[in-house]
Amino acid sequence: MCDIIMLVDIRAFYVTYFVFTTNEGCVLVADVVIEVKDLYKFFEVGSSEVHALDGVDFKVYEGEFCAIVGTSGSGKSTLLNMLAGLEKPTKGEVIIAGHHIEKMNENKLVKFRRDNVGFIFQSFNLLGTMTALENVALPLSFRGMDKEKRLKRAVKMLKLVGLKEHAMHKPNQMSGGQQQRVGMARALVVNPKIMFADEPTGNLDSKTSKDMMRLMREVVNKHHKTLVMVTHDDSLAAIADRVIRIVDGKIVKIEDHRNIDGVQEDKDNEE
Ligand SMILES: Nc1ncnc2c1ncn2[C@@H]1O[C@H](COP(=O)(O)OP(=O)(O)O)[C@@H](O)[C@H]1O
Ligand SMILES: [Mg+2]
Repeated sequence: MCDIIMLVDIRAFYVTYFVFTTNEGCVLVADVVIEVKDLYKFFEVGSSEVHALDGVDFKVYEGEFCAIVGTSGSGKSTLLNMLAGLEKPTKGEVIIAGHHIEKMNENKLVKFRRDNVGFIFQSFNLLGTMTALENVALPLSFRGMDKEKRLKRAVKMLKLVGLKEHAMHKPNQMSGGQQQRVGMARALVVNPKIMFADEPTGNLDSKTSKDMMRLMREVVNKHHKTLVMVTHDDSLAAIADRVIRIVDGKIVKIEDHRNIDGVQEDKDNEE
């Protein structure tokens, strides 16, 4: 007997599948949701060229919590921006759920992000004049949902992050941790397949950061989201299924924490 830790959900439009064998010989299968191939991003700065991403390859699997870890300036935000289609790569491919992000025009990208992706930002990015409820409901108005439905769904999301009682509070009436939970509810409200978080605890104290990590872990597990989180903090990344280490725009190591016996297996830049 073995525990199945990932549901097999094979849909035709996904590009590849990930298969691995546990110690008990069980084969577990997960879809590849994000595939990054030979990705480069160079910036011209004066007469020199900064190699922010210098040949990056990796995959992200459905339902996993994937942390990208590196020091400041290592290329984490650039990489996340490429994944979200916020910037064009110099070279290489970003394939999400079978779609080539790097080939999409701005209109298609806007629609793709709106339908598939939720963002959590370091600085929360809440609108100060709106209540928590209105902030969470806002992305739904871009989808043309009527107000009653929007607010009902926003209440549900605030409940999910444990903030139902704070629905009528404005950002300046909430702590940093509470504001970030509102940010998370706002990211979840459109029911995205994928969530991207760039240093989501960068403005939080260490205890609140750990609480936030646990909440993110719970959301990934219970609501079957795929989460890609960028952080410089190793201790926070430990909660992720896999940790991708980036140095000077290159992946130097991918650590896999998913072994069902809890034994950590490390791989040196290979998938
Ligand atoms: N728009 C830009 N113009 C020029 N250089 C940039 C730009 N964005 C990022 N960089 C450079 O690319 C490198 C990686 O930056 P970034 O992805 O922001 O790192 P991190 O998020 O890991 O701190 C850094 O050297 C940074 O200065
Ligand atoms: Mg950054």
